[in-house]
Amino acid sequence: MSNQPFTFTLPFPGYKPSHFDHHIVRRLSDLQGQFFNQQAYDAMLSREDTVLYEVYEVKRPEIEGELLSGISIVHPGKVGDEFFMTKGHFHTVLDTAELYYCLNGEGFMVMETPEGDTAIEALAPGKVLYVPPRWAHRSVCTSRQEDLITFFIYPGNAGHNYGTIEEKGFRKLVLEQDGAIAFVDNPNFKEDK
Ligand code: PA5
Ligand code: NI
Repeated sequence: MSNQPFTFTLPFPGYKPSHFDHHIVRRLSDLQGQFFNQQAYDAMLSREDTVLYEVYEVKRPEIEGELLSGISIVHPGKVGDEFFMTKGHFHTVLDTAELYYCLNGEGFMVMETPEGDTAIEALAPGKVLYVPPRWAHRSVCTSRQEDLITFFIYPGNAGHNYGTIEEKGFRKLVLEQDGAIAFVDNPNFKEDK
């Protein structure tokens, strides 16, 4: 991989990077067990394996000192009353942070630490979100029509630990209740035994 400085652009309105190395497409079937309403999930999946979100990654060596960046696009929609969202993860190297810059749409970042602290921050165009080390993070799109688009940057050595969230879930859910957005304790969250 070249060590020359480089540039790329994030052209309006889609913000798909002019240069990227990897296009990840995550579908409903990739989030098995993550949505609260399993019946609604199964019914939806039996109709179509809908694309929930896409990521365009700009690759760099996955080592300390490097920065990885890209664009995350969460599409609008719901499974039952729960808005489309990313899988979410802790970083494998827990002590690594991440920075998000929201370019389009409306949504939230749902976050929590292994100790059980929780935080939910609103995302809207122009907003910068700093996710400190140790905080798991999941993007949720709450707009009815628009994609939630964010630019992210994180340390090269961070890595993605999906397993913990796949096993336990997040402590908080983002649902639509009576036409409003509600943050609800996840009844299915699995505490450590
Ligand atoms: O590293 C990040 O936090 C982002 O690039 C995410 O990977 C992206 O938003 C997709 O989410 P996830 O990796 O949880 O599927
Ligand atoms: Ni991350």
